[in-house]
Amino acid sequence: MAESLTDTKQVQELLNRVAGLDQRGGDERLKRIVHRVATEMCRIIEEFDVTPTEFWTAVSYVTRLGQANEVGLLVPGLGIETFLDVVMDEKERRAGLEGGTPRTIEGPLYITDAPLAKGEARLDQDPERGEALFVEGQVTGPGGKPVPGAIVDVWHANTKGGYSFFDPSQSPWNLRRRIETDAEGRYRFRTIMPSGYGCPPDGPTQHLLSAIGRHGQRPAHVHFFVEAPGFRKLTTQINIAGDKYLHDDFAFATRDGLIPEVERHDDPAEIKARGLNEPFATIRFDFQLNREAASLPEAVVVREHAKAA
Ligand code: BEZ
Ligand code: FE
Repeated sequence: MAESLTDTKQVQELLNRVAGLDQRGGDERLKRIVHRVATEMCRIIEEFDVTPTEFWTAVSYVTRLGQANEVGLLVPGLGIETFLDVVMDEKERRAGLEGGTPRTIEGPLYITDAPLAKGEARLDQDPERGEALFVEGQVTGPGGKPVPGAIVDVWHANTKGGYSFFDPSQSPWNLRRRIETDAEGRYRFRTIMPSGYGCPPDGPTQHLLSAIGRHGQRPAHVHFFVEAPGFRKLTTQINIAGDKYLHDDFAFATRDGLIPEVERHDDPAEIKARGLNEPFATIRFDFQLNREAASLPEAVVVREHAKAA
């Protein structure tokens, strides 16, 4: 078999210079990563006989992806955000950490500094009709000890799968709140049942997914960050049982332990007691946090977020 062009002296020298490996300055680890990325691109071009036209089509695609602000959408779609969770789980396991509510991906639709409420909140502030949903639970530490004063930061989509700040039809902070747990570590909120998210149908993420025979749909879900001093920050989601995409999430975020039972209530007395005139749903979901320790990998992910305008 002919020698790979990537392995020739000429290309190896080129790649060393590309990564700054022939220079004294710069970050050594970054140089090695750049070298690997450039090398793998050369190998892909060779192995798949990528033509210059195909290559520049890919360059245009990446440019469009950035212009459409969809990089944070394609990354989970390619499973990379889930892989980061797999790596973190494994590092924790090797450090001897067990138990706690499973983590899952954050996704690209979080906004910092949602309104803060004590103990309970109502999230649905827009006049959208939807099934009323009451969610409640307790934040505990190892052994089930309640964690008062924890912050449960919750956000989710509306009945059309859209998120406030990204969907101009919603008011700022609709379906987003931070709730401080009470003296027993309890939180509760009223909201509306979300629908699953779908990638923008004409956007570059969906374009690539369609080209490889995939859909860009997520099951209905509710996101959480749960934080308290002395505990590891938890990034997670609950998925709504019964959703068609529950185990077919384009972003690969569904995990065992994150599919609570959804109880439906149609008893007129219960409906009246909640101040409603239609059936409603309830979910109970408890979070168990792990204690922070210097020997554990950093749990707080520093990541740029869209800003509330
Ligand atoms: C979401 O949380 O809705 C989401 C996650 C990953 C990609 C796109 C959306
Ligand atoms: Fe989401």
